[in-house]
Order: sequence, then structure tokens, then C-alpha cells
Amino acid sequence: MCRFLRFSCIAAILAISLAPLAHSLERQASSVYHARRVALAAKLHGGVAVLFAAEEPALDFMPYRQDEDFYYLTGWNEPGAALLIVADAGQVQTAGAQTADAQTPRTYKEILFLPTRDLRMEKYTGAKLDAVSPGVAEATGVDAVQPMTELPAVLNRLIDSDRRLLRNVWAQPESAQAKALMGFTAVTLGQDANASTRDATTLTQQLRVVKDAGEIALLRKAAAASIEAQRVMMRAAKPGVTERALAGKMTAAWFEGGCERVAYAPIVGSGINSTTLHYSENTRTLEDGDILLVDAACEYSMYASDITRTVPVNGHFTARQREIYNIVLGAQQAAIDAFVAGKSKINDRDRRDPDSLDNAAYNYINTHGKDLHGQPLGQYWLHGLGHMMGIDVHDPADYPAVLKPGMVFTIEPGVYIPEEKLGVRIECDFLVGADGKLIDLDAALPHTAEDIEAAMQGK
Ligand code: GLY
Ligand code: MN
Repeated sequence: MCRFLRFSCIAAILAISLAPLAHSLERQASSVYHARRVALAAKLHGGVAVLFAAEEPALDFMPYRQDEDFYYLTGWNEPGAALLIVADAGQVQTAGAQTADAQTPRTYKEILFLPTRDLRMEKYTGAKLDAVSPGVAEATGVDAVQPMTELPAVLNRLIDSDRRLLRNVWAQPESAQAKALMGFTAVTLGQDANASTRDATTLTQQLRVVKDAGEIALLRKAAAASIEAQRVMMRAAKPGVTERALAGKMTAAWFEGGCERVAYAPIVGSGINSTTLHYSENTRTLEDGDILLVDAACEYSMYASDITRTVPVNGHFTARQREIYNIVLGAQQAAIDAFVAGKSKINDRDRRDPDSLDNAAYNYINTHGKDLHGQPLGQYWLHGLGHMMGIDVHDPADYPAVLKPGMVFTIEPGVYIPEEKLGVRIECDFLVGADGKLIDLDAALPHTAEDIEAAMQGK
């Protein structure tokens, strides 16, 4: 019968064989990851990159999260894999025993090595694909897929054909797997087992800092679910509710919105806890008259959101809370107004730098309002204005970073006055558009004190 229904049979077989992927993350097109690998190869100075996937967590009931660079380059979300990228090096002088002094071309090559399946572990963590699973080439989108057992032999042959490559292998700097592989490879080539690698993350950082359209779409989905969760929080906050219960309601909204996990430990700080920057115990019970700072957002298919809103627990800011709130909002607006694509910098604490957005916000805070002793408020803002955001909520960047089209970053000024049990932070995520204009990814969430009060009444 299959002869007549060949296509549906193939589809059925593929569907069964790819079943482990059914609940996986939303991947971009395979061509996108391929282009990233080619772009990385162009930065390798004719060398080789070997990147390893994250290991499964030691406690197998903890959720798995892929290594960020590995995910960026492959979209592959299973543990134990390795990616080899060989850069195009044109004609190279080879010095292998069989090919002394020959000229051979070394052209771009990419191989994904998949580990031998652990059928016992799969009883706990679910089925995985290996190099001989049907449909694995299509599923991975990498030019070649081989068993992990081949990796040492492939690397040995590659370096043997051009011994200079031993000093041009790029890997994740803290990777125990890379160290083991390089030690073994060096020994098999009669070299010092302490062969070092170059830091591949310095190169992936350069690529990751500018987001493509697919990444922006995922960031928007993370933002949408995070915005909805913040709205849930605004409706649920009232005296008698615990900080943790609010975190729980937000967690439900994130999961309902399709997110797989929090982007960072939720910060739900009421009263004095609002002045602790990364407070995440979330154990206090909200009281009438408290301010409540909620810095909490989720991750959608590996891409983060990072949102802070500060609300009055009883639904109405006091005059002093409103005053400080408006100063922090004014500082955020001062940074937005000062923004010039290709010129402005984020996380720049050099107070003399006219291009620093941190300075624009700091100057606003320090020239508006006073503390209880008549002193300016600048001293109550302790952290940088923002950071890059992407696969990591704090995406890697060289700070101070000049902001260019395609970059996504936070603007999050704050004022924290423990003496008044009053901490206010307002954090939104911004994309620099192709036209150089800022796009607020969290525009749908209330920003002003009045809009927050309305949202707390379900409006
Ligand atoms: N939202 C936490 C932070 O950016 O540090
Ligand atoms: Mn942040």
C-alpha cells in the first residue's frame, strides 16, 4: 500500500522519527543558522571552530538550556553535540607525512557531531536524535552530520594536513569538552597536551549583537508574554498578597503566552525590598501604602524580555511616590530624547562623555527632586542605564557600546532610597530600527503613573 501512498508514508515516517522535536523551540529557518556559521568562518583567520552544546543538567529534573552560542549557530536544542566549522583558507601549504609540501585547497566545511544515544537516560529525558536517525540532516540543517566518535579523528586529520591549525582552533573558553578534545588531539599529533584554543565567544559576540528579523520576531513574542504578565501583576497586586504569589501569577501568564522559562529570577520587591536591586526572595506580604517594584519577564524560544514596572500596592501613588516615579520616567525619556543611532552609548559611566545615554538619564535625576536632607538624587541610582538583550537577558557586548540599527537593549533608570523604603525602576526594551529610530518593544504596557493606576483597576 505504501507504494501508492509513498509521500504520505514518508511524511508519516518523518513525523515519527522527528517526534522528539515536536515540543522543541520555535526555530528560525535553517538557512539563517547556516549564514551565521558562514559569517563566523569568515572571522576565523583561516582556522577552525569547535563549539560544544551544553550538557544535560546534573539533576535531570532541571530544565535543559542550550549553550547560547551553540544555539545561535545551530538552533539545535539537544545536549552533547559538537559543531565543527572549517574556514575557507584557499591553497594551504600542507606538511602531513603523506603529503609533504603539497598545495591543497581548504574550503568551508561544517559538521555537526551528535553523541551516541543513551537509551537508559532517554527513559528519563526523552528520545534524542543521533547521526543515523532518519531525517537527521533535514532536522539539523547542518551540511554534514556525523557520530561524535568521529570528531577526534576528523580534527586530527585536519590539523595533520596543516600543523599551523593547532594554534588556530577557536572554542568556548571554559569548555571542559574543548580542553579534553584539544589535549587528546595534540597528543595524537605528538604535541604538548596543553594545547590552548582561541576564544570563539569574542567572535560570536560580534555577530550576536545585531539582531536579524527572525530574532526580533522572537524578542517581540517574549515581550508580548512579559507585558501580559505585568498586566496580570498590576491587577493582582493589593495589600495582603505575597510577593511570591504575584511571581506565581506572572509565571502562569508567561507559560500561557508560550514562554518556556523565566529570563531571570523574578524580582518582586515591596516596601524596603524595592530598594534591593536584585531582590528575589519574594517572601514579604504586601502592605497598604507600599511601593512595589516588579522586574520580571520571560524567555520565548531562547530569546529574553526584561521589563520593570513600579506600582503602588493600594492602587494609588502617594505624592512622594509619584514625584520619584515621574523623575525616573523623566530620566528614561531624557535618554530616549538624547538617542542618536551610531553615536549614543549605553552602559557608559564616563561622566564627561557627551554621547553617554547614562549621563543623559543621570543628569535628569540629579537635577530633579531632593532626598529628605535636601540633597540631589543622583547618589540613589547605583547601576548602569542598560544592557544588550537577546538570547541572554544580558547579551554579551563590549561596553560602553555604541548603539546601531538592529541592536536591542534596555533603558532602565532607577532611584532607590532605603530611608524612605522607596525604590523605583522603569525598564523597557528598545530596538534600534533600520532608520535609526528607537522602537519600544514594551510600548503596549503602561508607562506613566496615571496609566499604571488605571491598569491596576483593570482599565
Ligand atoms: N532586569 C535585571 C537586570 O537587568 O539586571
Ligand atoms: Mn535589565
